[in-house]
Amino acid sequence: MARALAEVLTPRHEILAASHRELDITDGKAIAHAIEMAHPDAVVNAAAFTDVDACESQPELAFRVNAEGPRNIAFACKRLCIPMMHISTDYVFDGEKSEPYIEEDEARPLSVYGRSKLQGEREVRENLQRFWIVRVCSVFGPYRKNFVSLMVELGRRGQPLQIVKDQRFAPTYTFDAALGIERILERGSHGIYHLTNQGFTTRIDYTREILRQAGFASVRVNPITSEETKRPALRPANSQLENARLKREGLPLLPTWQDAIRRYLIQLNANS
Ligand SMILES: NC(=O)c1ccc[n+]([C@@H]2O[C@H](COP(=O)([O-])OP(=O)(O)OC[C@H]3O[C@@H](n4cnc5c(N)ncnc54)[C@H](OP(=O)(O)O)[C@@H]3O)[C@@H](O)[C@H]2O)c1
Repeated sequence: MARALAEVLTPRHEILAASHRELDITDGKAIAHAIEMAHPDAVVNAAAFTDVDACESQPELAFRVNAEGPRNIAFACKRLCIPMMHISTDYVFDGEKSEPYIEEDEARPLSVYGRSKLQGEREVRENLQRFWIVRVCSVFGPYRKNFVSLMVELGRRGQPLQIVKDQRFAPTYTFDAALGIERILERGSHGIYHLTNQGFTTRIDYTREILRQAGFASVRVNPITSEETKRPALRPANSQLENARLKREGLPLLPTWQDAIRRYLIQLNANS
């Protein structure tokens, strides 16, 4: 996400991007120093420990990176009166709601990852008045393996796939999110935003559409339940994020997820 963001923002803004190797968000002193030296107009935190299953067995690391990390940044921003944007996740919700979640819905995470990310949100909210928390969902784009690139890879092999049928959501294409984030930074009032591509789907219908667009429609996709995957972390059955705040603010919604896949596949093919 961060690389797409830097690419999209660079033509119109001066960007100082730091990789994990260059700056560790768990190092409060280093964060305070880096932010003080740069003294930017805003700080965007897209760093996180994002391996949802690994978080279950490494809760201390999850909370250090996903909660203490944003707290370190929030402290530095508070001291220097700099607004902060923090990227968060649909996994703060438990999925029990039958409708899409709006920004004001109560968060009740099911996993260590979700709890650590929710704590990160709290650190930002409690320490700053000028903040944006942007929740994205099932992110895909270049520079990182993701669900879409994985399905294309598996589709190419032609073997039948087993995909969960009981998870509803809307994915987020990094380049669309980056444009949305730019608009929120420039024009959005402070607070929480849901930012996903438009339209909702299930994991299995999503997979079928990826395969269809990639030219692998003949690959068989067998439905299974989330329980059958036996993954360490529970996932919410419903993590549809209604982009209600964007609508209220009069900010443009992102294109549909089907259109986002189409543009990402063009990019993938061009790079392969
Ligand atoms: N990926 C998704 O499907 C998804 C879904 C919902 C929300 N999100 C949220 O979206 C944001 C961006 O995630 P992403 O998809 O871009 O994930 P990503 O590709 O895993 O990127 C996370 C980045 O954070 C870095 N990082 C980890 N620990 C760090 C630390 N202590 N200090 C500094 N950097 C550190 C990682 O570096 P290393 O790789 O070197 O450790 C990596 O570059 C995160 O807030 C995530 O929670 C992602």
